[in-house]
Amino acid sequence: CSDTFCHTEKYLYSMRFSDETLRDIKSRFRLELDKGLGRDTNATATVKMLPTFVRSIPDGSEKGDFIALDLGGSNFRILRVKVSHEKKQTVQMESQIYETPEDIIHGSGTRLFDHVAECLGDFMEKHKIKDKKLPVGFTFSFPCAHTKLDEAVLLTWTKRFKTSGVEGMDVVKLLNKAIKKRGDYEADIMAVVNDTVGTMMTCGFDDQRCEVGIIIGTGTNACYMEELRHIDLVEGDEGRMCINTEWGAFGDDGSLEDIRTEYDREIDRGSLNPGKQLFEKMVSGMYMGELVRLILVKMAKEGLLFEGRITPELLTRGKFETKHLSAIEKTKEGLTKAKEILTRLGVEPSMDDCIAVQHVCAIVSFRSANLIAATLGGILNRLKDNKNVPRLRTTVGIDGSLYKMHPQYSRRLHKTVRRLVPECDVRFLLSESGSGKGAALVTAWAYRLADQTRQ
Ligand code: GLC
Repeated sequence: CSDTFCHTEKYLYSMRFSDETLRDIKSRFRLELDKGLGRDTNATATVKMLPTFVRSIPDGSEKGDFIALDLGGSNFRILRVKVSHEKKQTVQMESQIYETPEDIIHGSGTRLFDHVAECLGDFMEKHKIKDKKLPVGFTFSFPCAHTKLDEAVLLTWTKRFKTSGVEGMDVVKLLNKAIKKRGDYEADIMAVVNDTVGTMMTCGFDDQRCEVGIIIGTGTNACYMEELRHIDLVEGDEGRMCINTEWGAFGDDGSLEDIRTEYDREIDRGSLNPGKQLFEKMVSGMYMGELVRLILVKMAKEGLLFEGRITPELLTRGKFETKHLSAIEKTKEGLTKAKEILTRLGVEPSMDDCIAVQHVCAIVSFRSANLIAATLGGILNRLKDNKNVPRLRTTVGIDGSLYKMHPQYSRRLHKTVRRLVPECDVRFLLSESGSGKGAALVTAWAYRLADQTRQ
């Protein structure tokens, strides 16, 4: 065929996957899960499968007054979470967003934690709780090694963060130090949880069947409840523990080379962490807009778009954002949005250009949803095998800006998962209130445990 739409289709052929390919990726990911859990293979595994020391989803008995810090997603947020039991367990939350300027997240660790401690002080001041020593739950959305709930050694920064002197350190110690140095309030950091874990716990509060947590936002990741007997790195055989998979690193050992494109390689080369988080770079919000931009530049250079017009804006990294992709894929106003956005890039788009760009966006976001369906399928298969049941009925808690804001993403993801794992009945539950509530529930549990030990 000869129109621009068909050109695009042919051009991006390598970003379209058959179900057979997706099933193959699902199987590859399942092998990664085994590697990460095994005693002898963990050290070299790319998907790290980190024990979280969270042993169950909320049981409805948690209560108290907590502070939750949420660092590492699109916003730095502080929350006050009150969980009470009058007739029924209820949760009350107030929150505030604080800026984390670029020079802080690319500066020194001391400055970063001084900043967090300062914001926390400001929050306590505003809520008139500076004289209380409230238990704090810390949602820290990066890969951490735990030996207990309130110790979390940062393995490596991901996404936009590159603060010096934090990798290899316990973030609880760093934050405590910064708070002590101020001396104007006290805080008791009881638990550090990944955002996936916070999401699973938040959703678990409403649905006891929830045993998986996923984030599809700036970055992507998943956690799930694994049988303790399969976690070689933790003592004990009874019960389950939540594992933070860190699936963003899938492919870092070369296992996805056959499906990565020249655009994926270019994104990686220009990133803060080349060679790392290769799966995340193919699918998550921090990179998707940029992937589209790189494709548009190449197509324009070959005369397939904008009559070959290339502008400095189009050539500028970050000028095409994932939120633009979401706007362009809206069913009704999508093409109008495409026209607006492309006009701002100075490329004087024709109607055909707008249709083609919409198609590029759809292919890139479809690829993302498909790949995440494959990895999630791997986790669901594993859960089913662990339980040794013919059909698995389960709930997946999800959060993240891409999943929430993109008009078609969730529907596509759900559909593909159902096709790839027909033996599972999956309920997808959106975490309406973020991961802060979940962090507070983990804190409540830790607090109660500490209290029992004290008595
Ligand atoms: C990155 C982080 C991971 C986090 C995810 C979503 O992949 O490494 O810990 O859960 O982003 O925020």
